[in-house]
Amino acid sequence: MTFQNTLEFAKELDASDALAHYRNEFHYPQVNGKDVIYFTGNSLGLQPKRTQKFVDEVMKDWRELAVEGHFYADKPWWDYHERLAEGLGKVVGAKPEEISVMNTLTVNLHLLMVSFYRPTEKRFKIICEEKAFPSDQYMLQSQVRFHGLDPKDAIVEVKKRDGEHAWRTEDIIQKINEVGDELALVLMGGVNYYNGQVLDMKAITKAGKDVGAFVGWDLAHGVGNIKLRLHEWDADFAAWCSYKYMNSGPGNASGIFIHERHLGKEGIPRFEGWWGAKKETRFLMKPEFDPIETADAWQLSNPPILSIAPYLASLEIFDEVGMDALIKKQKTIVAFLEFVLYEIDKEVDSTFEIITPAARGCQLSVFLHGEGKSIFDYLMKKGVITDWREPNVIRLAPAPLYCSYGDMYRFGQILKAGIQDK
Ligand SMILES: Cc1ncc(COP(=O)(O)O)c(C=O)c1O
Repeated sequence: MTFQNTLEFAKELDASDALAHYRNEFHYPQVNGKDVIYFTGNSLGLQPKRTQKFVDEVMKDWRELAVEGHFYADKPWWDYHERLAEGLGKVVGAKPEEISVMNTLTVNLHLLMVSFYRPTEKRFKIICEEKAFPSDQYMLQSQVRFHGLDPKDAIVEVKKRDGEHAWRTEDIIQKINEVGDELALVLMGGVNYYNGQVLDMKAITKAGKDVGAFVGWDLAHGVGNIKLRLHEWDADFAAWCSYKYMNSGPGNASGIFIHERHLGKEGIPRFEGWWGAKKETRFLMKPEFDPIETADAWQLSNPPILSIAPYLASLEIFDEVGMDALIKKQKTIVAFLEFVLYEIDKEVDSTFEIITPAARGCQLSVFLHGEGKSIFDYLMKKGVITDWREPNVIRLAPAPLYCSYGDMYRFGQILKAGIQDK
């Protein structure tokens, strides 16, 4: 498609956008009496309007039924979480039994490492990307130390080449082969939080498995953003948060995937609690743990219903729209944003360098050479919510459910004015 950086053209794109009406499904913060242009769905998604109904329903059931709500609420609480498995399975490309919703992301990655990081004298190394999200780095280091190992020996980081902003798949695979039979686990961010790069999860998973390692993915930036096929790719496990592209609310519950070949197996190391026990025998209060034969066996506690109600609300939207339609719009709106940036670049002294490679989802990470944090502050004041990373990178994620082409055009004009009026 040939783009034009005009309001009329942006309006035409909006008029032919099959998802345009979903904009009305969300609440927008207001700046200067207007809806903001929201680029931080990769950090915290907007609140869907229908979420209130789902939360109110739980509050009402709690008010009117109290403990009886566990079994007699319209959506009984004791199996409430099961309602998310099918929808989430569609989002991440998994069977419902491979999915569970529990805890929060870092907690789940720790719990999954209990099962999938089982170092031996020979096979004890972990491969991850350099400068992984800090929580992942702390998680990996503390796990390694927990096993009495030194992170310096056990954690192998794959680096980008000098002067390059993205990882090369061949470098990751080469590192996997190099570490070979010392490799216990590959655990990486499927979509990098900083540069927005989508890793070739299929090829990396295969390479890891070929040398006999477990392979897991942190999909904080992948879920609800890109097409995932976790089952088909044969990943051992994955975990994600739900508050970014999935719009489930701040700090909300995490999802996990565990490949079916690990389900219903005796002897898999796992931290356990009563909600991982079979529903039929759970309330017999027996001392023996009788695990559910799905990923729910990894659940420890009875789930926080008030947290997962908004997740269910948001999943309803994903179910209506479907990942294919979402990604179709995403590709066009991100390409339009990229075009607008390059057009504005021609009109201002500063130069923009997009460091996100072609393998991307929703996010563009952009070096604003010649600019400092004041441009970010200017954008915020004008109602454009972006994310700033030192030294001068802004991350822009036009989530297709609630961003419009008009937003992209208006953002370009505000950015230009901010740079020219300095
Ligand atoms: C890639 C990645 N991993 C892990 C986390 C940590 O998530 P949580 O605080 O929910 O554990 C985040 C949070 O933004 C993230 O972006």
